[in-house]
Amino acid sequence: MSKIKTAFFCQACGYESAKWTGKCPSCNSWNTFVEEKIQKDISPRHYDWRDSKEAHVAKTKIVQLSAVEGAEERRILTPDAELNRVLGGGIVEGSLVLVGGEPGIGKSTLFLQNALALKGIKILYVSGEESEQQIKMRADRLNILNDDFYLLTETSTQEIFQEIKKLQPNLVIVDSIQTLHSPMIDSAPGSVSQVRETTAELQRFAKESQVPVFIIGHITKDGAIAGPKVLEHMVDTVLQFEGDQHYAYRILRTIKNRFGSTAELGIYEMTGNGLRQVSNPSEILISQREDQLSGIAIAATIEGLRPMLIEVQALVTQSVYGTPQRTATGFDLRRLQLLLAVLEKRGGFHFGVKDVFLNIAGGIRVEDPSIDLAVLCSLLSSYEDIPLSNHVCFAGEVGLSGEIRAVNRIEQRIAEAEKLGFEKIFISKYHKKGLNLSKFKIEIVPVGRVEEVYQLLF
Ligand code: TYD
Ligand code: MG
Repeated sequence: MSKIKTAFFCQACGYESAKWTGKCPSCNSWNTFVEEKIQKDISPRHYDWRDSKEAHVAKTKIVQLSAVEGAEERRILTPDAELNRVLGGGIVEGSLVLVGGEPGIGKSTLFLQNALALKGIKILYVSGEESEQQIKMRADRLNILNDDFYLLTETSTQEIFQEIKKLQPNLVIVDSIQTLHSPMIDSAPGSVSQVRETTAELQRFAKESQVPVFIIGHITKDGAIAGPKVLEHMVDTVLQFEGDQHYAYRILRTIKNRFGSTAELGIYEMTGNGLRQVSNPSEILISQREDQLSGIAIAATIEGLRPMLIEVQALVTQSVYGTPQRTATGFDLRRLQLLLAVLEKRGGFHFGVKDVFLNIAGGIRVEDPSIDLAVLCSLLSSYEDIPLSNHVCFAGEVGLSGEIRAVNRIEQRIAEAEKLGFEKIFISKYHKKGLNLSKFKIEIVPVGRVEEVYQLLF
């Protein structure tokens, strides 16, 4: 009997090393190496989903690209417009899609709900996490019935492929990749080598059978679980499901897509009976209020390709400690510090003796730099304790010298603000001359510097 071979794998990035090391040379994380059994010497071949003796070897030869016949990729449309959108227009046949997200965010709910709602095709939901009864209870809660929905609670890929051969499904969902194990590899489920091997088997299955496969994978913030990160290059599409567990809103983002744009994004709300599609995000991200409060400003942002109006809340108070506090939720803390420094230096405001708290409504993380101007105005409004009108919104990036910089897709932002009934929008005066802004009824205020904004508002 040959000796069992082992290797050390970084659980964060999948880096393989013959010896244990404290710090991963690839991703620089500490203490992430775990010894895993691999059997490279006795089993070089992978498990073939058709279980033939020889893995399928295709003869390849050089071809002229112009001579290759293009085939229209066939897509399955789901009843969920948000999911279709992030996939680039439906599920592509034979594609392998990885869906990552923190535990408890709603990945199982999203895919169970969609699988149940998909009519006319046979769907196999493989769960290694929950029992049949648990899934039944969840399906009852979602309140959708589907006779073409089949359930398999199994974790061995060999068994799974055998069942697939019997059932011949048109769509397979695996929940989650961390629970699967392949008999070809000796290490524990969830380890880097297992996760890689089981994904490779599913990939071969998807490509050869043309059945699309969805793989659900857990990610933790610190990457403690062998991450779907190590799988990203193996799959066609990577979706990320994110949001704050304490808020109802969830965002489904495209991280990678071989069949569409990565700028897409889907928005959902978690309700008592499943996830609800949010087709008009602006309406929920702005709290409906009658009275005007200081420290609130509305930003006209664009996430992915979608314009969204988002409420920014700031609280500026006298600091009671020597070191003033700065806290930001949904916004980069360093960016907040930078904006405070700009206000201190260019506007002469004394934020150095103030505590500053900043919050983006709805628990949503915003990366669009155009939110800067709204953040700045909410800070000023709270500093002065003067409310801003709730019919005003902002779109502009703030530069280090206090200038308000132009942002992309300004017309789309203005149109969204107008649609939602805003009366005034502040934008940078440095937008290109060619813009046709006369078509808008909303009042557009071009501003060049922070001081100018302050003068116009207070
Ligand atoms: P789940 O899909 O199990 O998360 P994941 O698969 O990403 O780990 O969903 C987790 C949360 O969603 C759970 O805390 C309960 C909540 N939930 C609802 O609020 N409404 C529902 O209808 C369902 C099914 C779940
Ligand atoms: Mg789950």
